[in-house]
Amino acid sequence: MSEHIAGKVIVITGASSGLGEAAARHLAARGAAVVLGARRTDRIESLAAELSKAGGKALAVETDVARREQVQRLVDAAVETYDRIDVIINNAGLMPLSPLDRLKVDEWDRMIDVNIKGVLYGIAAALPHMQRQRSGHIINVSSVAGHKVRAGGSVYSATKHAVRALSEGLRQEVKPYNIRTTIISPGVVTSELPNTASDPDVAANIRKMYEDIGIPADSFARAVVFAMSQPDDVDVNEILYRPTRQEF
Ligand SMILES: NC(=O)c1ccc[n+]([C@@H]2O[C@H](COP(=O)([O-])OP(=O)(O)OC[C@H]3O[C@@H](n4cnc5c(N)ncnc54)[C@H](OP(=O)(O)O)[C@@H]3O)[C@@H](O)[C@H]2O)c1
Repeated sequence: MSEHIAGKVIVITGASSGLGEAAARHLAARGAAVVLGARRTDRIESLAAELSKAGGKALAVETDVARREQVQRLVDAAVETYDRIDVIINNAGLMPLSPLDRLKVDEWDRMIDVNIKGVLYGIAAALPHMQRQRSGHIINVSSVAGHKVRAGGSVYSATKHAVRALSEGLRQEVKPYNIRTTIISPGVVTSELPNTASDPDVAANIRKMYEDIGIPADSFARAVVFAMSQPDDVDVNEILYRPTRQEF
């Protein structure tokens, strides 16, 4: 499964915890150079130091994906340091669930800014390099919530449906450039995501669900490795997976 990973230059947004961090560890261990973006620089700097100490290649770049220029700087740092970008994993996201009538409009704005616009900024930064290279792989993180809508999750679900819609349009448009696109839609995976819910009752319910059925973030890393490991003429367009115990 390490085929097609050693030597690749991989930009990961939201690499400071959860799915992004797990992916960084797996990919670095398989010989990729990982370029880590997140706002918590202490986290990504210590992760980069740890991966480098273990013999890997890693770079940390402070990045708020809601700021287009910062996403551009992240991708440009990858290209300046390692001469190319093979993969971008647009993973940064947040999930402050709440019923619409609680009117958490600032949180709706934030989800749109990070979960949708952050992914678009990643595409905007990586695409010109990949078009020039005539190769690349764009991996966008959606969710089971990108397939199903549940009460209390309308805006989060809308953002994750948007990720799938724009990924499918992208897939069709990048055919001339030999670029692959993958949507990864996880179910309940243990991470810091429940901390992003601000309402105590909602947060408590989410935490309980994650404690009851959550599976390790390694599951996401293995999905990334699977999509990347295919021969160049195979494009894994979407992976939807859940804990075996997840009903919804
Ligand atoms: N865990 C699940 O069950 C699950 C299921 C389906 C989909 N997902 C998706 O998986 C992705 C990763 O989430 P996770 O579960 O790993 O949660 P997590 O542990 O909370 O990680 C979220 C990551 O996103 C980053 N992030 C948040 N806002 C950001 C911003 N403005 N700019 C840059 N980075 C930002 C965080 O870094 P900083 O705070 O340091 O910036 C952190 O590294 C999200 O898109 C989430 O929607 C997760």
